Amino acid sequence: MPKVMPIYGTRPEAIKVAPIVQALQADERFECVVTVTGQHREMLDQVNELFGIEPAHDLDIIQPRQTLNGVFARTLDGLDAVLEQERPDAVVVQGDTTTSTAAAVAAFNRGIRVVHAEAGLRSFDILSPFPEEANRKITGQIAALHLPPTRVSRDNLLREAVRSEDVYVTGNTVIDALMEAVAAQVPFEDERLAELEASGRRVVLVTTHRRENQGDAMRGVGRALARLARAHEDVTFVLPAHRNPVVREAVLPALEGLGNILVTEPLAYGEFTHLLSLSTVVLTDSGGVQEEAPSLGKPVLVMRENTERPEAVTAGTVRLIGTDEERVVAEVSRLLEDELSYRAMSTAVNPYGDGRAAERTVSAIAQLLGVGERLPEFEDGVSA
Ligand code: UD1
Ligand code: UDP
Repeated sequence: MPKVMPIYGTRPEAIKVAPIVQALQADERFECVVTVTGQHREMLDQVNELFGIEPAHDLDIIQPRQTLNGVFARTLDGLDAVLEQERPDAVVVQGDTTTSTAAAVAAFNRGIRVVHAEAGLRSFDILSPFPEEANRKITGQIAALHLPPTRVSRDNLLREAVRSEDVYVTGNTVIDALMEAVAAQVPFEDERLAELEASGRRVVLVTTHRRENQGDAMRGVGRALARLARAHEDVTFVLPAHRNPVVREAVLPALEGLGNILVTEPLAYGEFTHLLSLSTVVLTDSGGVQEEAPSLGKPVLVMRENTERPEAVTAGTVRLIGTDEERVVAEVSRLLEDELSYRAMSTAVNPYGDGRAAERTVSAIAQLLGVGERLPEFEDGVSA
């Protein structure tokens, strides 16, 4: 029986790999051995707990204020022993984190086939997102099977001369996870959020963590939020703060003493998606949130200059606004004050998936390992 090893380390990978792990575990053709690096800790464990995943191996590599090279080195080193012991037929890595690329390199160096989930996304700027654009390209050079979520990302791979038979469009598993989480209707543990929901007030949901925004840009975002909160007293701004101390030091000081700004710890995925579904506007620099919010019909203002996820921009529900303080204030205010602008951006669209991406992923792994056939590809209806 072929042995498949999903390897992941951060919150967003965990959310997106969880549906694949569930599908592999339910499939009698495979043995599934989950390995986590522990690049994240609390934020990773939260997701594994929610989806009932107990990793067979945990490298526990996290360090406070860790560096990219430190994470890469500890992942390579730790995984080598695990791969030696388990000898999987294929590893599954997800997306563009340091964990995913280091894991791909570790497997490749041992002659193990690399399956790359969420392959082919490109911003075409090697410095943004940093280092994720480079990570994704490096993994794309060594993967045996490339699983782009959409046709736009498939076409990026084909333009880079990846063989078409090694590329298969799955849809994004984040939509599988989102559907499962929203259906579970998880209540808020944080009483402040339960009260907020009961009050019926409008909510602006904010998340920020990108490395290229840390420092001045993030301080500017903090100032913009404070100005917005003063100008819109009838709106509550909720910021589930990333665990990264560098992020907290930049954003939080400007928010102190403002009654309509609610800062929380990272929310468990069920609570976060609940909050997303009752939000009016989403302001974020997150990749995953950019994919989830459109399918719930929520307008998303993305605090980045570019994106490797152009589909929802094309569909009109995502707008790239950068991090300039004045622009953030103006764009959020417009959506809160101008009904027409709001309506134009709040149509529910699903360019990223239909909830069956994990099933397709497993069918492609089955074909790679000679135990089955691929399902038809995901048809997203968005072209490049
Ligand atoms: C990483 C990923 C990024 C992803 C983001 C998701 C890379 C290069 N970057 O960001 O692609 O979008 O995660 O959130 O892989 N920390 C904790 N507990 C946690 C998580 C983080 O304390 O559960 C703190 C630690 O001090 C850690 C710091 O946050 O050193 C930064 O974590 P890290 O994974 O290195 O963050 P990024 O690289 O910014
Ligand atoms: N998320 C969560 N709790 C939070 C904030 C985000 O569960 O408090 C989820 C969110 O729904 C999305 C993922 O985490 O699926 C995004 O993670 P992050 O923004 O850290 O990383 P990125 O997607 O930018 O790589």
